[in-house]
Amino acid sequence: MENMSLVLVITIVLFFGYIGDSEGGDLRKNFYKSACPLAEEIVKNIIWKHVASNSALPAKFLRMHFHDCFVRGCDGSVLLDSTAKHRAEKEAVPNQSLSGFDVIDKIKEKLEETCPGIVSCADILALAARDSVSFQFKKSMWEVLTGRRDGRISRESETRKNIPSPLFNFKSLEKSFAKKGLTLHDLVVLSGGHTIGVGHCNFFSKRLYNFTDKGGQDPSLDPTYASQLKAQCKTLSDDTTTVVMDPGSPLSFDSHYYTSLNQNQGLFQSDAALLTNKESSKIVSKLLDQDGFFTEFGQSMKRMGAVQVITGSNGEIRKKCNVIN
Ligand code: HEM
Repeated sequence: MENMSLVLVITIVLFFGYIGDSEGGDLRKNFYKSACPLAEEIVKNIIWKHVASNSALPAKFLRMHFHDCFVRGCDGSVLLDSTAKHRAEKEAVPNQSLSGFDVIDKIKEKLEETCPGIVSCADILALAARDSVSFQFKKSMWEVLTGRRDGRISRESETRKNIPSPLFNFKSLEKSFAKKGLTLHDLVVLSGGHTIGVGHCNFFSKRLYNFTDKGGQDPSLDPTYASQLKAQCKTLSDDTTTVVMDPGSPLSFDSHYYTSLNQNQGLFQSDAALLTNKESSKIVSKLLDQDGFFTEFGQSMKRMGAVQVITGSNGEIRKKCNVIN
């Protein structure tokens, strides 16, 4: 009888342990605690130093981490350079405006001095995204589980198939997130990343100048906002000018994205699409509450950061983040 109870207890613990783990899989809190106790501190210090003199960086790392996770999982594949045989993810159109790779390389260099061969580039990127956004608050905004290992493959062609397009409608966005095990709720919450950073004109100028392919403006775009955008993006083909994505507070990580969105001032069709579905627009309204948004964003980032991660003895720990060992 005693044995039966023990088996029951163990079964319950294993079951709930498994369920409880479902957001992070094999990732752990403070994975480097014994092998490289200063790892997370080193990442934070270098990131904060760079963000202090370059306020555009949080948007760069947040987007870079998203693009890493959506192609082959969060395995640092977005950081790899092309080789003689293969063009890497970096070369794909959505990734051509990524930057900040040099800062990741600096962090890696310091970590290799401190504890060689221990900390993965995929983890550095996940921490960099969190720490750069957190700089504004001088405290950590969400928990990052660690223990990711680095992948050895990076293909331009896979980027096109996995990174959602700014022209996507709601159904396509939902499908793209579902392919990564992320929900409609995650889609709306993570789109809140567009509260910081910039977008190039060519990703939305069709909404201003040629929405129906016979000219004309996107009727779902606020006309006053459209005029302001036209003053910045003068032609349909302008692919060099950038505009801020959340004009009210472009550098501040806050819930203002959802305020703009509700006023039909979402920049991309993919932003505006979040209002075209009943369930999704309900979530948009809920996320107007800033504290609520911060909590939800942290949870969705945790789920995104666990997408198809490589752990254990698979993959490798790169010596340099831009080349495989
Ligand atoms: C839902 C689907 C999404 C689409 C279609 C999308 C699309 C885009 C596009 C087209 C840009 C402009 C890039 C440029 O012109 O250089 C952009 C910027 C950005 N995106 Fe997204 N995005 C999506 C989701 C996300 C998510 C999930 C995050 C992070 C959690 C994110 C974070 C950012 C950030 C921070 C920027 C600004 C980058 C900068 O300032 O350089 N996006 N996004």
